[in-house]
Amino acid sequence: MPNLPLSAFPPNFVWGAATASYQIEGAATEDGRGESVWDRFCATPGKVRNGDDGTVACDFYHRYPNDIALMRELGIDAFRFSVAWPRVVPGGRGPVNDRGLDFYDRLVDDLLAAGIAPYVTLFHWDTPQPIEDAGGWPARATVDAFVEYVEAVAGRLGDRVGHWITHNEPWVVSWVGHAFGHHAPGRTSDADALATAHHLLLSHGRAVQIVRELSPGSEVGITLNLDFVYAAGDEDGDEAAATWVDGFHNRWFLDPIFKGAYPQDMVEEWREILPEIADGDLEQIAQPIDFLGVNNYTSPLVAADTDGSRSRIVRRADVDRTDMGWEVVPEGLRDLLLRLARDYAPKAIYVTENGAAYPDVRGHDGSVGDPERQAYLEGYIGAAAEAVASGVPLRGYFAWSLLDNFEWAWGYWKRFGLVYVDYATLERVPKGSFYRYRDLIAAQRAQGTDDVYAVA
Ligand code: FCB
Repeated sequence: MPNLPLSAFPPNFVWGAATASYQIEGAATEDGRGESVWDRFCATPGKVRNGDDGTVACDFYHRYPNDIALMRELGIDAFRFSVAWPRVVPGGRGPVNDRGLDFYDRLVDDLLAAGIAPYVTLFHWDTPQPIEDAGGWPARATVDAFVEYVEAVAGRLGDRVGHWITHNEPWVVSWVGHAFGHHAPGRTSDADALATAHHLLLSHGRAVQIVRELSPGSEVGITLNLDFVYAAGDEDGDEAAATWVDGFHNRWFLDPIFKGAYPQDMVEEWREILPEIADGDLEQIAQPIDFLGVNNYTSPLVAADTDGSRSRIVRRADVDRTDMGWEVVPEGLRDLLLRLARDYAPKAIYVTENGAAYPDVRGHDGSVGDPERQAYLEGYIGAAAEAVASGVPLRGYFAWSLLDNFEWAWGYWKRFGLVYVDYATLERVPKGSFYRYRDLIAAQRAQGTDDVYAVA
């Protein structure tokens, strides 16, 4: 077992686990919840593997007290979950559904009673279907609809929630959902993707102001999926390809949030298909935030393409891959965090998701051993420690995910949990990585002045 430099983490470092509403809650038609784009997408043949959907998922909606007990056993400080917009405003706009808010009210109270801080994501992809029918995220009016929803949530939970995340991974919503068609709502237009990105960013800026008003004293930020992009070689073409991928995935979101401007090289690229950017939009988007949330799983190696495209991903020969096919590159997280601190100087950073899927199975004794996931977490947490030691203001780390869950277009096939879920019975079985993470958290808390802690 490797030694982790846990002493790099400050004593008040936040250890957590992350989830999202549609992936775990189930109870899809209960207590007045409306239809979301993911319900519709799952019901569309051929969109989600095996025809899976979130109707039952992990049944977190009913089993959350049991899951909070698991969180206590794990010893986490914080739990990241998202609020489902269709529970709160089932019609997308219009009447607020109190029974939907009641659920999150109970969840927040129970977490606090268990000594676990709620980190609440306001949007983790479950747009109400009526909003999509009225034009969806490519329509500017969706910004106003989102703002109304945020007012309802922050008005109800703002007195107890101390950390808010406006959006989760706007790049994925924009491009995977609106240009590649692999996620709900399944559109295939680059112009829709760019309009979605702009409206998500604008609604982020507006939501920040509402949270500050209705949840005074809390901290608010946004979570982006960010990867450190490595150029495969020294040739100019490879560097240019890496710059392009970085612009596409990272800078298009980071620059407006932290610098109040879209990156010029990409603006030129997309000039013909950009949405209307009204006066004042960029000022709204660039509201100061308290922290940047970073989701990171892998880091691409990029080269110039030979067939005229902008870039191609080079498969590394010498690294492990997870069940998603994603390359395990821990130093990519370190390099990313260093780069973010250098180029954007956020006040604070949280790793809001990091983890790995593996094809877990239960052994004859009923247990689930997952040495690969343990090694993955150790590698990435070690890399985060190196970044902290170099001065990056990293304040917390959230493992994705507490539970195996509905992995979007992959359905229930891909298991990311620290806790195995037997979908036939909904039984929860903590995996080896659950105990490993528990021991690591405990070791970090117990540490004295030694430089290096063995957590074996
Ligand atoms: C991220 C999502 C999260 C989960 C992980 C594996 O892109 O935010 O919901 O699906 O990937």
